[in-house]
Order: sequence, then C-alpha cells, then structure tokens
Amino acid sequence: MLTDKYSRRFTYLRLSVTESCNFRCNYCLPDGPDCVSRKEELTLEEIRRVVTAFAQAGTRKVRITGGEPALRKDLTEIIATCKAVPGIEEVAITTNGYRLERDLDRWIDAGLDAINVSVDSLDAGTFQMITGDSRLDSILRGIDLALERGLKRVKINSVLLRDYNAAELPQFLEYVKTRPVALRFIELMQTGDNRAYYQRNHVRGEDIKQQLLNDGWVQTIKPTTAGPAQEFTHSDFAGRMGLIMPYSKDFCDDCNRLRVSSRGQLFMCLFASEHNNLRPFLQQDDPAALIQHLQDVLQGKAASHHLHEEFTGATRHLAMIGG
Ligand code: GTP
Ligand code: 5AD
Ligand code: SF4
Repeated sequence: MLTDKYSRRFTYLRLSVTESCNFRCNYCLPDGPDCVSRKEELTLEEIRRVVTAFAQAGTRKVRITGGEPALRKDLTEIIATCKAVPGIEEVAITTNGYRLERDLDRWIDAGLDAINVSVDSLDAGTFQMITGDSRLDSILRGIDLALERGLKRVKINSVLLRDYNAAELPQFLEYVKTRPVALRFIELMQTGDNRAYYQRNHVRGEDIKQQLLNDGWVQTIKPTTAGPAQEFTHSDFAGRMGLIMPYSKDFCDDCNRLRVSSRGQLFMCLFASEHNNLRPFLQQDDPAALIQHLQDVLQGKAASHHLHEEFTGATRHLAMIGG
C-alpha cells in the first residue's frame, strides 16, 4: 500500500494522457499554450506499466484526465488497457464532453465505469464565453446518454466564477431536479497563469453552501474515501449538489490521490513545487522497481497545498495535470 508520513493511503491514481485541450476555458488557459508537444505523451505500453505498478501497490481506481483525454486517438484502448490491469476496479474519465455523444458507447464497451464532465454554464452564450466552445447542446445530450446507459456515476463540474455563472444556481438546481447526477461547484483556484483572473472571479463555496442549507439541502456524511467534494441531497431532487472548496481548512487531510502527467511525471499534489520523472522506470517491465521508487518519494509529500498563502507551486494551469 502506498502511504505517506501522515498515514494517508493512496488508492486512487489520476493519470493525465495529454496536455492538449481543444477548449480555452478562461480560468484554465488565460494566456495558455496553443500548441503543446504531443510527442512526449505516454505510450499505451508505458500506461500499462505505470498502472500495473500502482495497482500492485494498492491502487484500485484510475481516473483518466488531460487536457482533454478524448484528443488521444487511442483513448478507447487506454481505457481498455487500464481496465485490464489486475487490481483495478474502476476506470473513470474527466472530460469536457465534446466527444461524449459520438464515443461514449465505445468507451463503455472498453470498460469505462464513470465520467465527470465539465459544464461551467447551462446557458450556451455564457458557456461559449467561458470555454470558447459552441457545442453545449451536444455535451448535454452526451450527459443524458451516459445516464441512459447506466454508468456507475455521472458527475458535473462547474467552476464558480463571479463574472459568469455565480448567479446561475437556480438553473443548475433545475437541472439536477430530474437527473441523478452529482453537480459540483469547484471554488476557483489560483494557478501560476490566472492570478488577475482569480482576484476578479473567486467566489467562496461557503456562500453557495449557505444558500443550499437555507433551501433545505442536507449535507451527507462523507466516507473518508469519498474524494474532495462535500455533498448535499434534497428529497425533491433526483440529483445531488456538491462543493469542492480547496481553500477550506483540512481540505488535504484525507487526500487519497496521486497524479501522473502525460509525460510520465509524478505530481504528489496538484500544487507541488516539483515533480518526479517516472519515465526511466517505464522503459523496462519491472513494477517492483517503480513501486520502491514511489514509496521513497512519497515520504516527501507535503501535508497540504499552500494555496491560502498564494503559493501555486510549479502549476501554471491545471491542464498540465488534469485538475
Ligand atoms: P472522483 O471522486 O474520482 O469523482 O474525483 P474528483 O471529484 O476529484 O474528480 P474530478 O476530476 O472531477 O475533479 C474535480 C476537481 O476537483 C479537479 O479538477 C480539481 O479542480 C479539484 N480537485 C480534485 N482533487 C483535488 C486535490 O487533490 N487538490 C485540489 N486542490 N483540488 C482537487
Ligand atoms: N480552479 C478550479 N478548477 C479548475 N479546473 C481547471 N482549472 C481550474 C482552476 N483554476 C477544473 C475544470 C474541470 C476540472 C478538470 O478542473 O473546470 O472541471
Ligand atoms: Fe481544457 Fe479542462 Fe482546461 Fe477547459 S479546464 S481548457 S476543458 S483542460
């Protein structure tokens, strides 16, 4: 089992498969890279090796992230490869949703268990202002398709933004009234690239939490393995509401995840100041050597991020490591 000196157990791997993205979310890539080298992306065999080592060390869940993972032509094979690794119980992806309608069935056939889709606004105009993309309708149809197909979990992520969607709570509530999705507001995080934008647009998740509690939503008791969101339910609604508040106290105490970038770098935190190159260990089929290395470097994992001190580490934007 991979553990650190704070006795946190890491059973969840977030594996980024590309830094490229076809959206330009203004909080993510304010002046971001239009062209990222794709040559260095992990190959299918390297992915198999990295996931095999993590699985042998106790990882049970893999979330495939990006950039936008569907930009990889071999995403279906990546899903199948992760799912085939002994020990892996769940394979999920986080996507902007632009290929859902077209490819979801293929991904499910390959073994996909769950999806998280980013939808920052339910209004097509606002959505386009935030993401630069005009396909909101297709993305929403893709989400309904995922519900129809009975995926284990469907979650929606919305980054809370003062100038764009902070007043859209009623529309989001209407959306979850009939759909069994978890809709989570993510508090905007400051990154190396979005400082001015962050100052202007950051909204406290606590403000939304108060509104939900006032409207009769009830906070669920969170198992320690649940991930970062606080969740709320309401008897009149099929779906759940969630809040991800990285600036809140104790946010990192039950961290259960490690991240590997599409270039094979281990990030021990979303906001780590350095990363560790795993690629040399992926050149041979030797999981034991990689596991030993992971155990060693994990002892250096910090107790928490230092976002509240405006320290964003080496993270210029989250497309680098998939959020
Ligand atoms: P699941 O439990 O697998 O659904 O995980 P999740 O809810 O973390 O998945 P998702 O990829 O949808 O992540 C949502 C967002 O939450 C991420 O993109 C980040 O913005 C934020 N987040 C997730 N994990 C962390 C973390 O370890 N630290 C911080 N600061 N933010 C995180
Ligand atoms: N703050 C909060 N969330 C962010 N995401 C990307 N950048 C940021 C940021 N600076 C979110 C995306 C997506 C998830 C992968 O990460 O909207 O839902
Ligand atoms: Fe792409 Fe996700 Fe960044 Fe948006 S938040 S630009 S969809 S990587």
